[in-house]
Amino acid sequence: MSERVLVTAALPYANGSIHIGHLVEYLMTDIYVRALKMAGHDAIFVCADDTHGTPIELNARKAGVTPEAFVERFAKEHLEDLTSFGVNFDSFYTTNSEENRKWVHYIYEKLSEGGHVERRSMDQLYDLEAERFLPDRFVKGTCPRCGAHDQYGDVCENCKSTYEPTELKDPYSVITGSKPVVRASEHVFVRLGDFADFLREWSAKEGRLQPEIGRFVQSWLDNGLQDWCISRDAPYFGFEIPDAKGKYFYVWLDAPIGYIASTDHWGQVNGAPDAANEIWKDKKAKVVHVIGKDIIYFHCLFWPAMLHAAKLNVPDHVRVHGFLMVNGVKMSKSRGTFIMARTFREHLDPIYLRYYFGSKVGQSPEDIDLSFEEFVNRVNAEFVNTLANLVSRSASFLKNKLGGKYGALPKDAEPHLAEVRRLVADAEAAYQAFDHAAAVRAAVQIADLGNKLFQDGEPWNLIKTDQQATLQLVTLCLNIARAATVVVAPVVPPYAEKVYGVLGLDGAPKSFEEAIRFDLLKRPMGEPERLVDRISLKQLDPIVEASKEAEAPKAADADDDDESAIEPIADQIDIETFLNIDLRVGLVVEAKKVKKAKKLLQLTVDLGEDKPRNIFAGIAQAYEPDALVGKKVAVVANLAPRKMSFGISEGMVLAAGPGGADVQVVDVPDDATPGSRIR
Ligand code: MSP
Ligand code: ZN
Repeated sequence: MSERVLVTAALPYANGSIHIGHLVEYLMTDIYVRALKMAGHDAIFVCADDTHGTPIELNARKAGVTPEAFVERFAKEHLEDLTSFGVNFDSFYTTNSEENRKWVHYIYEKLSEGGHVERRSMDQLYDLEAERFLPDRFVKGTCPRCGAHDQYGDVCENCKSTYEPTELKDPYSVITGSKPVVRASEHVFVRLGDFADFLREWSAKEGRLQPEIGRFVQSWLDNGLQDWCISRDAPYFGFEIPDAKGKYFYVWLDAPIGYIASTDHWGQVNGAPDAANEIWKDKKAKVVHVIGKDIIYFHCLFWPAMLHAAKLNVPDHVRVHGFLMVNGVKMSKSRGTFIMARTFREHLDPIYLRYYFGSKVGQSPEDIDLSFEEFVNRVNAEFVNTLANLVSRSASFLKNKLGGKYGALPKDAEPHLAEVRRLVADAEAAYQAFDHAAAVRAAVQIADLGNKLFQDGEPWNLIKTDQQATLQLVTLCLNIARAATVVVAPVVPPYAEKVYGVLGLDGAPKSFEEAIRFDLLKRPMGEPERLVDRISLKQLDPIVEASKEAEAPKAADADDDDESAIEPIADQIDIETFLNIDLRVGLVVEAKKVKKAKKLLQLTVDLGEDKPRNIFAGIAQAYEPDALVGKKVAVVANLAPRKMSFGISEGMVLAAGPGGADVQVVDVPDDATPGSRIR
C-alpha cells in the first residue's frame, strides 16, 4: 500500500563546507527516498541549513559580515554541493526563516502551557573583554578532577569526567584568552523528566530504533533525565524568546523544528499550503529521520519530547549511521583525507562515491570505512565489470551482429526470470530497511546471472549455427540487464538513465516494477554508448593532495596534547626496523619563512650529497630562521619526499616537544660531519 512518508536528513551547520563524511548521510537518505518513490510511496525529502548559534555568530563577526549574509553563502554552497552529488531534496530550506520562528513559538507555547518550562538563575562564566557569557566550548582550563590542562568547560578529554564550566581551574576564554568572571543569569529550562514515561514507551517500540540505539536510549532514561536549558544570553544569532527579553532559544531547540519549517515551505511552494499541518498534526504521514551517531541525544530525547508536548506527530523511525573513516582511521587534514565534496567532484565523478557508499551502508550504526583500495576495486569489479559490462556486451552484440532489434525470450527463460523476480523483491525490501548494501548486492547478483548466461551461451559461436537462438539469448540478457539497472537506479541515477537510452527506453527507471516487466521484445534498441569508466588508485592522488592542509610534520602540530603526561611509548620494534630509518647529520645552510604556512620554515640542509636538500619543518613558531643557519641537525634522510603545495620536502628534521612554540630541534654536536650516519 502506498504511504506518505516524510524523510529528513540532519540539517548541516551553515558554518563550513560539505565533506565526504556528511555525504554518507545525504547520499544514504537520497538513496532511501528514491527507492521509496520507486516502490510507489509518496515520499518527501526535506532538509535545511542549520543557521543559528554561537559559533556561527562569532565566525560571521570574524569574517566581518552579518550572520544572515554569512549563513546565506553556506546555504547556497551546500545546496549546490549536495545537488552535484545527485541529492534530490523536495525542499532545502533554512532555520532562519519566518516559518521556523512561527513553529518555534508554537512549540514553546505548548511546552509552557503544559507546565514543562521553568526559570531559574544560573552561575556562568562571563568574558569581560568580549562582553558575553561563555558557552561550555568557549572556555578552557585545568580539569578540576585530574588536573589535565587545556580542557573544555564541559568534559575532560583526559579523564572523561564531566563538570560545570565554573568548576574549571584557571579558566580562560577561548575568544579573548582573558580570565572570565562568574556571573548569574536567569535561564529557561525544559523539565525533560516530565517525559520519561513517554520516551520509554516511544523508544521501546518495535522498529522505531535500531536495537543498539534503543538500548542506548533506555540506559539514558535509566540514569534519569536532567532539565534542559533552552535559553542563551545575547549576543546570540537565533530567535528571541517571546517572554524573556534579551534571551534567545538555544540552537538545538530551533534546529529540529527546521524539519517542520521546511515541510511548511515545501507545501507553500507546491500548492499544498496545509501540508505541514497534515503531516505534523494530523499524522497523515510517517516521519523518518536520518542522523549521525553524534546527535542521537537530540533526536531520541529532546525532539520527541518536544513534539509530544506540542501534540505533534512524533518520529516513526530514527535511523542512525556511523561516522566515515578513511583507510581505517578518522578523516585527517594532515593525511589529506578530510575531503570536501567540492574537491572530490573536481577530480572524480560523484557517481563513483554514490556507488561505493550505496554498496557499503548497511543496517548497523557502526562506522563506515572508505578504503581507497576497496573503493577502486569495488567500483571496477562490480559497477564497471559486472553491471555496466552486461549492458555493454549484450547491447553491442545486438546492435552489431543482430540488427539492433530485440527478439523473443527463449522458451527456457522462466527459471531465470523467477530468480530475477526474487532478487528484485529482496532489493526493494532491503532499501526500505536501509540496507542499501544488500540491495546493491542483489543488483550485482542479477547482473552476474546475465553475464553467466551470455558467457555460457557463447553467442559469438552460436550465431554461426542458430541466428534465432542467439537473438533470444541476447534478448534475455538485455532484459536481465535492465532489471539490474532498475534495482541499482536509486544509487546511481544518471547511470540508470544512460542505460535506459541504450536499451531504447525513455527517461529513467521510475518504479521497481519495471525491473520485472521483461518486455524488451521485438522492438528496436537505442544507441550503444560508453556507460562508466574504470578508475584507478592514482586518480585519488590529486584529491588527497588538494585536501592536505599546509601543515607541519606531525611532531609540530599536536596542539591538543595533554602536557601533564608523556606520550605513551610506541610498540616495541627490532633493531632491523630501527636501522631502516636512515638518520644523518645535516648542516642548515639557509632558512626562511613560508608565506602561506605560519608553522613552517623552509630549510636548505647539506647532507654531504651533491646537492643540499629542501626540507620543510614545523618549527616556525619556535625559531627565527636566522637562529638555525649554521646549525647541525639530525635528519631522516630516507623518508619518501612529500609534495606540499609550496614545494617538495625531502626529509625531516628531528625535534622534540609537543609543538607550536614549544619545540626544540634535536641538538647535534657542532663538530659532527654533515652526511655521517646517526644510529
Ligand atoms: N546541525 C546539526 C544537525 C541538526 S539536525 C536538527 C549537525 N550538523 S553537522 O553539519 O555537523 O552534521 C550534519 C550530519 O552529518 C549529522 O547527522 C552528522 O552526524 C553527519 N556527519 C558529520 N560528519 C560526519 C562524518 N564524518 N561521518 C558521517 N557522518 C557525519 O550536526
Ligand atoms: Zn580530567
